[in-house]
Amino acid sequence: MSESTTPQDLFNFAIEKYQSEDYQEAINLFRSSIELQKNWNSYQGLAWALLNTNQLGEAIDTIKKSLDLKEDWNSYQCLGTALFRIKQYTEAIYAYQNSLSLKETWNSYLDLGLALFNTEQYSAAIDSFKKSLVLKEDWYSYHILGRALLKSDLSIEAIDAFYKGINLQVNWDSYNGLGWSLLESKQFSKAIKSFQKSLVLREDISSYNGLGWALLNIQRFKEALRAFYLASDITILIPKLHEVGKQLVKGKKYDLAIEFYEELMRRHPENFLIIFGFIWTVKESKRLSEYQVFISKLKIDNCWDLVEYYELNINKKSFNFNDARSMSYVKYNFASATYVPDREKNLEEAIRSTNRNYHLVMEFGVFYGKSISFIAKILPKEKVYGFDSFEGLPEAWGTRRNKGDISTEGFIPFVPPNVQLFKGWFKDTLPKFLASKPGMNSKLIHIDCDIYSSTKTILSVLAKTIIPGTIIIFDEYYNYLGWEDHEFKAFQEFVQEYAVTYEYIAYAPNQVSIRILSKNK
Ligand SMILES: C[S@@+](CC[C@H](N)C(=O)[O-])C[C@H]1O[C@@H](n2cnc3c(N)ncnc32)[C@H](O)[C@@H]1O
Repeated sequence: MSESTTPQDLFNFAIEKYQSEDYQEAINLFRSSIELQKNWNSYQGLAWALLNTNQLGEAIDTIKKSLDLKEDWNSYQCLGTALFRIKQYTEAIYAYQNSLSLKETWNSYLDLGLALFNTEQYSAAIDSFKKSLVLKEDWYSYHILGRALLKSDLSIEAIDAFYKGINLQVNWDSYNGLGWSLLESKQFSKAIKSFQKSLVLREDISSYNGLGWALLNIQRFKEALRAFYLASDITILIPKLHEVGKQLVKGKKYDLAIEFYEELMRRHPENFLIIFGFIWTVKESKRLSEYQVFISKLKIDNCWDLVEYYELNINKKSFNFNDARSMSYVKYNFASATYVPDREKNLEEAIRSTNRNYHLVMEFGVFYGKSISFIAKILPKEKVYGFDSFEGLPEAWGTRRNKGDISTEGFIPFVPPNVQLFKGWFKDTLPKFLASKPGMNSKLIHIDCDIYSSTKTILSVLAKTIIPGTIIIFDEYYNYLGWEDHEFKAFQEFVQEYAVTYEYIAYAPNQVSIRILSKNK
C-alpha cells in the first residue's frame, strides 16, 4: 500500500474484503483505517467483521465506540445481534428498539421479535413479527409468528401464519407448528396430514407425538399407538408416554392400554418405569391375577413399594421421572428434603441455608452467566467466584453431549459487578485460586459442569475447604439417562473418601441442594 493511502481508501478496501467474506483481511484493513483516523463507520465495519468471526466481546466494545461517535441504526443492529448471540436478550431488545427508532427495517423487527420471544414476551413478539411482515414477507417471520401465536393460545391465527410461511418455503418445522395449531383447534384430520408432511421432510419426535394425539382423537387407535412407538424409538419421554397410557385407561380402553405397554416393554426392555406403567394399567383394568406370573418374575427390589410410589406420582402434576432408579432414589433418600419445581427455586433454598460465617461462594460451569448472575443478585454483598474454560466440555458427557459442546467459544460473559470470573480448566485455575485464599472455607458451591471428571476435580481440590455447614448444589444430579455415572458418582466417591455425612435440603427435577453434616477424614 502506498504512503498516500488515505483512511477512506483503507475503509473502501476493507468494505470490498468484507463483501467478499474475507473477514480477517477486512478486520486488518478497518483497524489500519482507524489507526489513521477514528471514524464511526470504520468502527461499525470492524464490529460487523468481528461479529462474523465470532469475536463477540470485541465486536461489542467496538460497536460501542462507533455509537459514541455517531448513533446509527446499523450500529444498534450490530450491537443487538452480538448481544443476542451471547444470550443477553434484554439488552439486545434495547439495542433493536434503538435501531428501530432511527430506521424501521424488516430484519430489526424480526430480530426484536426473536429476542422478545426468547424472554417469553409473546404478545410484544407477535406485534414485532407482524411489523416485520408489513415491510417484507418472509417465510421465517411467518413461522416464528405462528410459534408465538401458538404459545399465546391463538391457534386459529397461528394456522394462518404457518400456511403463509409454508406457501413461501416448504419446511418440516412449519408443518409441525401447523399440525399442533390444527390439533389445538380440534381439526384432527388436517392435523394428521400436516404432521405426515412434516415427517416426510424430517423424522421428529414432536411430529410423531402430535400425529399420535391427532389419531387418538379420532379413534384410529392402532395407527396412533404406532406413532407413539416411533416417537419412543427416537427418545423415551416417560411422562409423555404415560399421558397416552392414562388417556387409554381413562377411556376404559384397557386392552389397548395393555397392548401399548407390552409393545413399549418389548422395545425398551430395560426401562422399569414402562414396567411400572404396565403394572399400573393391569391393576386399573383389574386383571392382576392374569399377569401374576409375569410380575412375580420381575427382578425389581421393592417392586410393589415402587409401583405404589409411581401411582402416587403420576396422579400429581409434578410427575416427571425419566427413569425408575431416579424415582426410587427420590423415594428412599429425599423424604425430608423440600421439593421445588425448578433450578432457580433450588438455588434460592440452598442460599437460604448457607452459614453466614463461611466465606467462599463459587460456581463451576458459568457458560453465558445465567445462574451465576442469579446467585450474585440474591447475594449482592458477597463476592461470587465463577470458573469455566468457556471452551465447553473437556470430554463427552455420555451420549448426551460431545467433547467441546456447551462452549461460548472463548467469550467471557457480562456478569454483575460482584462476580469474578476465572477462565481456564478447573484443574489449573482452582488450585491457584485456593492458594490465594488461605484458611477460607466453602460456603456455597454450585456445580454445573455436568460430567464426572470435572466434578471429581472440583471436589478433590476443594476437599479441605468443605466443612460441616458447607452447601453444595448439583445441577445435573439425577433423572436423566446415565446420571449415576456423572455428578452423582463423583459426589458419592467424595463422601466415601472423606467419610462425609450429609443431608439433602431440596430437590428439583434434576437438581439437588446438599448440606455437609460431618467430615471424618
Ligand atoms: C451446563 S454449562 C453451565 C451453565 C451455567 N451454569 C448456566 O447457568 O447457564 C457447563 C459449563 O461447564 C464448563 N466446564 C465443564 N467442565 C469444565 C472443566 N473441567 N473446566 C472448566 N470448565 C468446564 C463448560 O465450559 C460449560 O460452560
